[in-house]
Amino acid sequence: MKPFVYVTRKVPDDIVSRLSASYHVETWTEEDKAVPRDILLQKAASADALLTVISDAVNDELLSHASQLKVVANMAVGFDNIDLESASRHGVAICNTPDVLTDTTADLTFALLLATARRMTEASEFVKEGKWTSWAPMMLVGTDVHHKKIGIVGMGKIGTAVAKRAAGFDMEILYHNRKRHEVAEEMLGAQYRSFDELLQEADFVVCLAPLNDGTRGLFQREHFQKMKKEAMFINASRGPIINEQALIDALEAGDIAAAGLDVFDKEPISADHPFLSMKNVVALPHIGSASKETRMAMMMTCCDNIEAVFDDRPPKTLVNKDVLQF
Ligand code: GLV
Ligand code: GLV
Repeated sequence: MKPFVYVTRKVPDDIVSRLSASYHVETWTEEDKAVPRDILLQKAASADALLTVISDAVNDELLSHASQLKVVANMAVGFDNIDLESASRHGVAICNTPDVLTDTTADLTFALLLATARRMTEASEFVKEGKWTSWAPMMLVGTDVHHKKIGIVGMGKIGTAVAKRAAGFDMEILYHNRKRHEVAEEMLGAQYRSFDELLQEADFVVCLAPLNDGTRGLFQREHFQKMKKEAMFINASRGPIINEQALIDALEAGDIAAAGLDVFDKEPISADHPFLSMKNVVALPHIGSASKETRMAMMMTCCDNIEAVFDDRPPKTLVNKDVLQF
């Protein structure tokens, strides 16, 4: 019998045909709706592989009821939706999609920084609402990006790719990371700072750290208070790294000037979320890696990983290496 691969979202036909060449494939078919939990659990119970996305909780409950499951190919670089310890205990290989999304996510992060600094979404709404009646010297003035200080929290591959873009804008590059990044220091002149120093010095604080036990709730009110009043906060990694209420309070109190957010504590946010009534917040629906090319490459990486497991080869982007008994 062919292995059963369950894909938790509607995906392009090319992906289904590639997997169908070797496996019995079923997919969730509704474009704008996530697979309901009970259906996911029911499919996981007989699946040999799952192709998941970041909103699917691959937790101990799911893994304990998935006795055939060999591999979860998560279509993301992040894997905070997955209980890695449980996966290893159940002998399930967990794979992610790093590298293919690095430049695409860095582009979006820098675009979000520019949009926030130059009030681009606000300006676009202004035009659409018919409010553009004349040119005025101080109409919709934002703040400069070039020659300012960017402070990158989380200098992984995406952080480094954002630093490259910042260098092209003649920005001074500060970063904070668990480990020093010698290559970024040498190639881009990036300067290491403690977390507090970075908060105090940066004009743009950009969060690109992965979500884990060490980063959950990293940004509290006191951290926004340490930033310059003119500083802008950009988050393109994961919402729970910040205390969202603290950010709302900080923006309302004027502790910082603006925020550009691609990620939120609980996604999707509803239309009445406090951020959406703030003119100085640019909010995007978690689209960091959302280019056609990159989303296809991410799904192809998932297929590569699933095929590797069934061919008894080590998957290229295995996260829980302790599961390997290949
Ligand atoms: C998306 O957020 C990802 O982790 O790839
Ligand atoms: C994290 O994995 C990154 O690529 O920045």
